[in-house]
Amino acid sequence: MEPTMNQQRYDIYAYIHKGLRAYMSDVLAAAGRVDANDDEDVRQIAAAVRGLISICRSHLKHEDEHLHAAMQARRPGSASQALADHAEHKEAFEHIEALLRELEAAQGPARAAAARELYRTLALFVADNFEHMHLEETENNAVLWATHTDDELRALERAIVASHTPEQIALVLRWMVPSMAPAERAALLGGMQQNASAEVFGGVLKIVKQHLSARDWFKLMLALGPLPASF
Ligand SMILES: [Fe+2]
Repeated sequence: MEPTMNQQRYDIYAYIHKGLRAYMSDVLAAAGRVDANDDEDVRQIAAAVRGLISICRSHLKHEDEHLHAAMQARRPGSASQALADHAEHKEAFEHIEALLRELEAAQGPARAAAARELYRTLALFVADNFEHMHLEETENNAVLWATHTDDELRALERAIVASHTPEQIALVLRWMVPSMAPAERAALLGGMQQNASAEVFGGVLKIVKQHLSARDWFKLMLALGPLPASF
C-alpha cells in the first residue's frame, strides 16, 4: 500500500500515544527536579510515578487484549515483538516500584542516591517505551491496516474506551487532548459534542481548558461553535 494511502487510514495509536509521550515526559522531568530532602516532594513524586505506572499498565493490558489479540487472530505471530516489549515493560514497572519503596524508606544521602537511581531508571523506561510506541505506530499499524477495515479499528477502539473507568478516562483525556494538534483536537471534541450528554461534554471541556494555552483554547472554541449555557 502506498504511504499516501496509509496516511488516510485510521491510526488507532496516534492520539493516545501523543498523550502518553507527554505524560511520561512530564513525570520524568518532575523526577529530575525532586528535592530528596523534602518529604512532601518525595511523597508527590512517588504518587506521580505510581499514577503513570498505573496508566501504562492499563494501556498495555488494553493493547494486548484488544489490538494484539486482533492482530494475532488474523496474522498469527504479527504481534510477537510488541508482546515481548510489553513483557519487558511489566518487569520495568516492578523495578521502578521497588525503587520507589527504597526512596520512601531512605533518609539523608541515601535518599538523594535513591532519587537519582529512580530518575535514571525511569528515563530508560521512557526511552524504551518511546521506541516501542514507534514500532506500534509503524509495524503494528501496517498489520492492522492490512487485516482490518477502518470501521473494525474504530470498533476495537470503542471496546478499549468502554473498558476504562471514568477516572481513567478523565486522566487519559487530561494528557491526550492538550497534546493533539488543534485540528485533531477539534475533530475529537466535535464528535464528543455530538454524542455525549451536555454534562459529560462540559466536564471534558473543563479538564481540557486547564491544560490548553489561551491560543489553543480560542482555536477550539472557534471550531466547536456555540456551547450549552451551562458551560
Ligand atoms: Fe504498547
